Amino acid sequence: MGELQAVILAAGEGQRMRSAVPKVLHPLCGRPMLCYILDCAAAVAGEPLIVVGHDADLVREHIGPRRRYALQEKQLGTGDALMQALPQLPREGRLLVLCGDTPLLEKEHLEQLLRAHGDNAATVMTTRLSDPTGYGRVLRDPGGLVQRVVEEGDASAAEKKVCEINSGTYCFDIKLLRRFLPRLSPENVQREYYLTDILAVLREQGHPVGACTVEDWQVALGINDRCQLAEAAAVMGARINRSLMQRGVTLVDPSTAYIDYGVEIGADTVILPQTLIEGATTIGAACRIGPATQIIDAQIGDGVTVRQSVVQGSILESAAVVGPFAHIRPGCRIGGGAKVGTFVEVKNSAIGAASKLPHLSYAGDADIDGGVNIGAGAIIVNYDGRKKHRSHIGAGAFIGCNSSLISPLEIGEGAFVAAGTTVTGDVPAGALAIARQRQKNCEGLGKRLLTKKPEQEKDMREEKE
Ligand code: UD1
Ligand code: MG
Repeated sequence: MGELQAVILAAGEGQRMRSAVPKVLHPLCGRPMLCYILDCAAAVAGEPLIVVGHDADLVREHIGPRRRYALQEKQLGTGDALMQALPQLPREGRLLVLCGDTPLLEKEHLEQLLRAHGDNAATVMTTRLSDPTGYGRVLRDPGGLVQRVVEEGDASAAEKKVCEINSGTYCFDIKLLRRFLPRLSPENVQREYYLTDILAVLREQGHPVGACTVEDWQVALGINDRCQLAEAAAVMGARINRSLMQRGVTLVDPSTAYIDYGVEIGADTVILPQTLIEGATTIGAACRIGPATQIIDAQIGDGVTVRQSVVQGSILESAAVVGPFAHIRPGCRIGGGAKVGTFVEVKNSAIGAASKLPHLSYAGDADIDGGVNIGAGAIIVNYDGRKKHRSHIGAGAFIGCNSSLISPLEIGEGAFVAAGTTVTGDVPAGALAIARQRQKNCEGLGKRLLTKKPEQEKDMREEKE
């Protein structure tokens, strides 16, 4: 049977996506769709050869320089794309040809195709769809053998009724492919060199062409437009969710848990509805995440709670509590058991173990040691309009409500900042900082103001004017 190689056709523009981004780079669960098919091919046939063309540099940049590439300078069709790969392929053996836009294909399907291929010149993977619109239809002769594939645009009304479609995945005998691929011609509606025409050419030349028909329609889901992108994302998302559930993660409503490819989550963690977990995120065991939460590129320890919040590019250590309605911006480390509560925003800051910012605060560019309490409304003022400054708050300090700490500052261990203070200078360890006007009480005035009639108020206003 000889050597086994794989080629992935990924040079097309993907016009039907109506996008500035090349089709094969559109993400599916946080990862370019092309990466899925690369993994799938690599699992059975080693490092695949990728045919790039439209925005080739961009595709190479995203997929990585250590891959194997062939260039199709002009997008003249799938047959022409495969022609460009031939110089880099062995003289003989078997060749798997896959499309860059069918990310749901799995290793098992390729193994099934290889088994069906046997000594055929070509074997095409097909499936049956209740709505085959848009796909190439597989036409068989009266004996049931594959005769040819006709594209939607070239098909007659009767041919369009055929429900068996070409999945875009094939196995070829390389030697025969080399001989007959140059015979394709662009005499069709799209004026393209259709790879699918090779099947008819091989048949005419008396070579056996087979089909491997798979039950699972997802194999064939080719992404040509945004509707198919959403359809594929839903299937991929469901696969990711199922695998997490099998590993001991509870998804209260899997249909509203949007978890990217590669996210790791420990056992007994509960993901509540309307939650997005994206990028390079790892979450430990026994956490409660959500509802209505977005986590991006975060490292989360065990037993952490995050409710109705956004966490990005940060580390949450074990038993930290975040939210509801908190925003942890990039560059934060929230220590074990620390709390970042309601309407609190933290940026590029370290919050020590068991420290608390329970409500309505902003901490930017701050190093807060353990056991610190930051009262409601306290702000660490890091920006002077031109530059950002850092502050440090020592262990066990108490920052009163509604105080403003004008960075850069050093607040010593166990220091006490009185509520409403605007702190403009360092506070030594154990000191009390208070900076606010002394209170004055005007006897009886409160009562007079409260019992005033509306007309009196008007008179008083007019008097003033
Ligand atoms: C193709 C098949 C169709 C099949 C469907 C399955 C042909 C002519 N048609 O149609 O029978 O049912 O896939 O999804 O092959 N590409 C290139 N260079 C080109 C054109 C395309 O590399 O010049 C690449 C694209 O990047 C894409 C793949 O080939 O990854 C398929 O091209 P696409 O335009 O999506 O073909 P379909 O119309 O989907
Ligand atoms: Mg396609």
